[in-house]
Amino acid sequence: MPEFQVVARKYPAFGEICISVTTERARVKKMRRVGIVGYGHLGKYLAEKIQEHPDLDLAFVWNRSPAALEGFKQDLILQDLKDFSKRNADLIVEVAHPDITKEWGPRFLEEADFMIGSPTALSSQELETSLREAAIRHGLYVPSGAFWGAEDIRKMADRGTLQNLKVTMTKHPTSFKLGGDLKVKNEQVKDKKVVLYDGPVRELCPLAPNNVNTMAAAAVAAHNLGFDKVTGSIVSDPQLTDWHIVEVEVWGPNGFNVKTVRSNPAAVGAVTGTATYASFLSSMLVAKGKGPGVHLC
Ligand SMILES: NC(=O)c1ccc[n+]([C@@H]2O[C@H](COP(=O)([O-])OP(=O)(O)OC[C@H]3O[C@@H](n4cnc5c(N)ncnc54)[C@H](O)[C@@H]3O)[C@@H](O)[C@H]2O)c1
Repeated sequence: MPEFQVVARKYPAFGEICISVTTERARVKKMRRVGIVGYGHLGKYLAEKIQEHPDLDLAFVWNRSPAALEGFKQDLILQDLKDFSKRNADLIVEVAHPDITKEWGPRFLEEADFMIGSPTALSSQELETSLREAAIRHGLYVPSGAFWGAEDIRKMADRGTLQNLKVTMTKHPTSFKLGGDLKVKNEQVKDKKVVLYDGPVRELCPLAPNNVNTMAAAAVAAHNLGFDKVTGSIVSDPQLTDWHIVEVEVWGPNGFNVKTVRSNPAAVGAVTGTATYASFLSSMLVAKGKGPGVHLC
């Protein structure tokens, strides 16, 4: 192993190349090893950002179908998820599907911090309990995604002053990936916007697992209300061709009320708005050092 490592990195934003020379020991000491589970849109984006980051080391990338990883550095590909612990990741990030969190989340937490990219999985009370119980040595990190004001809402929940919370997401019909009756209802949307669902987030998560991660983050932040009392509404709007709109409305004592409207740029058919990628990366960078338990990030 070389005593020194020379790293050249290009920072396009600054138009310069930085060269850093570090001892192997210092490098190993400083770098946080991150494993990525799922190599779709978000997994690809994160794998690239991790490799560019001076303080992060890509421990592994796993994907259900190996074909998606063709051309990727062989030594970074994890063939069998059962071998994840051999890669000594400090943080494992699931960006595949809620089912992966269900099957592997508690195991990951035995060995590393775990960031749940599909927090809709937490709408299963059984899974939430098993993850909370597993997070005794490491932290379970829940990204806020497109949810604005998470910290303020969590503070109100801590004080018990949060009385109601409603999250409304409006998207183009092709940006929804739905199951059951909601799928049928969405297919019938013609030219006017239609409210597809309005009710508890717990029932919505399994029907729209890829679309309402933001609402699941809201239910975690609003822990005094939780998945049963936080309301989620999804609206299918054929006129909305460039944006996802996320509205968050909060009610507290004596008429306290806050409403935020987030316009997230998104092309027709995109499940995830572009600003959400950057938000997810920021969450991943702060998903550390909080110890055992569940943490919003
Ligand atoms: N928290 C957030 O803010 C946020 C934002 C965007 C996406 N997400 C979630 O992250 C996950 C990945 O999103 P994406 O946009 O990269 O999706 P994607 O469809 O582009 O990629 C998903 C990847 O996981 C794999 N996969 C799908 N189902 C699987 C299963 N049951 N078991 C194992 N692998 C499976 C697919 O082969 C694909 O490689 C999704 O669950 C999505 O809902 C969360």
